[in-house]
Amino acid sequence: MQNYKIAVLKGDGIGPEIVNESIKVLDAVAEKCGFTVEYDEALLGGSAIDAVGVPLPDETVAKCKAADSTLLGAVGGPKWDSLPGNVRPEKGLLGIRSALGLFANLRPARIFEPLRDASPLRADIINGSLDIMVVRELTGGIYFGERGRLNENGVEAAYDTEKYSVTEIERIARIGFDMAMKRSKKLCSVDKANVLESSRLWRETVTKMSKEYPEVELSFMYVDNCAMQLVRNPSQFDVILTSNIFGDILSDEASMISGSIGMLASASLGASGAGLYEPIHGSAPDIAGQNKANPLATILSVAMMLKYSLGQPEASDVIEKAVAEVLTEARTPDIYVDGFRKVTCSEMGDLVCAKIKAL
Ligand code: IPM
Ligand code: MG
Repeated sequence: MQNYKIAVLKGDGIGPEIVNESIKVLDAVAEKCGFTVEYDEALLGGSAIDAVGVPLPDETVAKCKAADSTLLGAVGGPKWDSLPGNVRPEKGLLGIRSALGLFANLRPARIFEPLRDASPLRADIINGSLDIMVVRELTGGIYFGERGRLNENGVEAAYDTEKYSVTEIERIARIGFDMAMKRSKKLCSVDKANVLESSRLWRETVTKMSKEYPEVELSFMYVDNCAMQLVRNPSQFDVILTSNIFGDILSDEASMISGSIGMLASASLGASGAGLYEPIHGSAPDIAGQNKANPLATILSVAMMLKYSLGQPEASDVIEKAVAEVLTEARTPDIYVDGFRKVTCSEMGDLVCAKIKAL
């Protein structure tokens, strides 16, 4: 029987709760589909700072490298907010993405039929099918560029640098074009080329590459306009290709189309088949430890792992179907509306497992 080794980074805040439910679901689908999973837990973020003094211990990197994929909860919280930038929990997250070479971040934002009412957008704006894939560059740009503090004639200043090389742009653009080919062959590259030199190089590079993909309808959009278009007419988008920081911002915005940021999964991929899978939301310290969090974004991240890294597309479909069915009956507080059963984080996990067994 096929056995997979998964590194598990539960992280901080609601991280442990949502990851525990996702492991339950992965075990349930493994049993149903005939494979086994072994878990290897490691520290990341604030919990790593508390235990060993650094947000990304070497042992964590080694465990993730040895695994078939990594499942991550979330990192950060007010407890560590006053620490200097290079030892904050978020530094651990950026560090693991970089150490594993995960330059491509796939963030699908789509509407789950039973959740249409939960979207804050008007029904006429989200009519029709909505299925956007944000392809975000993840190991470059301003997140990793040179930064520092200066003293300018006695006045303190700080700077961060947005820099992209042609190689970095090409490899993420290729993921975007290939993704567009597998979907509806529409790619919108988002930048700020009216102001930023790095965006102008991005545009030039993507334009050159488009010759290799004559079937893909390529368009360009400035990021400010894209932010507006996402809430004005989101169904115009299919694949959005963008930089690290613009992708961070636009994927949070796109997530609201689906009703709750608690629903959105993500896959971070590099040159090897192994990836890192995490919800796009944060550690929600305000509800941590209360069994209130929505585990579905992490559970759906497990579905992405099965599809993109473990070669188990059927198991992936089983999870997605189970989630869709559960949503017709039960809701965690973030997506709750009258007429449904209000459930806790662990009840939601149990319900998904039960559906998987019944499917
Ligand atoms: C995300 C998060 C992270 C990011 C933070 C926690 C560093 O917002 O995954 O979108 O900015 O990449
Ligand atoms: Mg973000």
